[in-house]
Amino acid sequence: MIPVPEKRIADFEKLGFGMFIHYGLYSLLGKGEWIQCNGRIPEEEYRKLADKFTAKDFDAKKIARIAKAAGMKYITLTTRHHEGFSLYDTCGLSDYDAPHAPMCRRDLIREFVDACNEEGLLPMFYHTTLDWHVKEFNDDFKTYLKYLRDSVEVLCTNYGKIGGLWFDGNWSKADADWEVDELYATIRRHQPDAMIINNTGLGAQGEIGHPEIDSVTFEQGRPSPMDREGMPKYVAAEMCSTINDHWGVGYGDFNYKSLPELIEMLCACRKVGANCLLNVGPTGDGAILPIQQCMLEEVGNWIRTCGKCIYTGKPSPIKGDGKNFALTDGVKDYFFIHDLGIFGQAHVTVAGNGEGIKHFSGVKNKVKSIRYTDNGQELEFIQKFDELFIYAPACDYGTNYVVRVAEADYE
Ligand code: GLC
Repeated sequence: MIPVPEKRIADFEKLGFGMFIHYGLYSLLGKGEWIQCNGRIPEEEYRKLADKFTAKDFDAKKIARIAKAAGMKYITLTTRHHEGFSLYDTCGLSDYDAPHAPMCRRDLIREFVDACNEEGLLPMFYHTTLDWHVKEFNDDFKTYLKYLRDSVEVLCTNYGKIGGLWFDGNWSKADADWEVDELYATIRRHQPDAMIINNTGLGAQGEIGHPEIDSVTFEQGRPSPMDREGMPKYVAAEMCSTINDHWGVGYGDFNYKSLPELIEMLCACRKVGANCLLNVGPTGDGAILPIQQCMLEEVGNWIRTCGKCIYTGKPSPIKGDGKNFALTDGVKDYFFIHDLGIFGQAHVTVAGNGEGIKHFSGVKNKVKSIRYTDNGQELEFIQKFDELFIYAPACDYGTNYVVRVAEADYE
């Protein structure tokens, strides 16, 4: 038996695509969020970055609008990363936070939550569990855990309804008692509808954790399908990915994923029912880089070619050849067809033309008609029992959608 998802988990799965944001003091250095550790910067020196932190270009409304235009339904922002600096008002727990930073003096999380609410996006909070700033993390772990819990309680009580907490760092002390029962109970007490997610890290992709955890995590690459048969609770899945090779901004990182890679990655996530959480790393001043903004906008334009099925479509038993696959929303099936290329014209089109017969198996219903979602073009097909052969034309000259979606109606 596959367990029935609780409402918050079923709702989360339908969000489909989210924006991850890594922003903190490290953004001022532009070498990724691990620079304090990897660059061996002494804590006394590193903490001085707080005096230079202005966040003058951190425009939460603009960020929310960029996410929305990209077809993203939620944003997961680093409220505190491993460096220990908080973007929220810790209400006296620490003065290492944005409201105390002399040139900032703003609660960026308040601005973020307000902007998300205004744009109809769900605000989610990334929170580190490991801390390079607070001495107790190494010297007095129990006291540290109380500080962590109190910090999370502030986040759960001061910002209205939130989408969830996304923890990261338990892998740093793999054998320690993190007192997670108490931590998660704090969240359930104040925010019963919030998702609780714990990043299991690069080495433990898709690992099921504590019974309160609502979603497994994958990091970089491709999520694997979940076998939920016999699970005590239905958990969602989410895969997070950098847009180049860094989470916190890396000014020397030119290794951007291409648009086709981003589109195919989103498709590969939805194929197995996982959400895709795509990261942006704002500049030291808090602005989203133009290149990242443009790429997201284009992913949004692609999503608009396939209607709502990216969100409503669930994994289907239908199998396609190669990268091709299908999703179903219970009424229609959606066939995702890759590598069609564009119509050849000897004098202008160099790329090969990938049009032709695309084969899918496991199509149980009798198909009445199939059409492309991007231009409504009706497609020819032959069905033999549960084998379906769709004649899929290439993209019209003037377009190349990378992945085209064909939706099928049934008799
Ligand atoms: C890893 C990194 C961390 C990053 C996270 C995002 O856990 O340590 O810096 O925030 O991945 O998934």
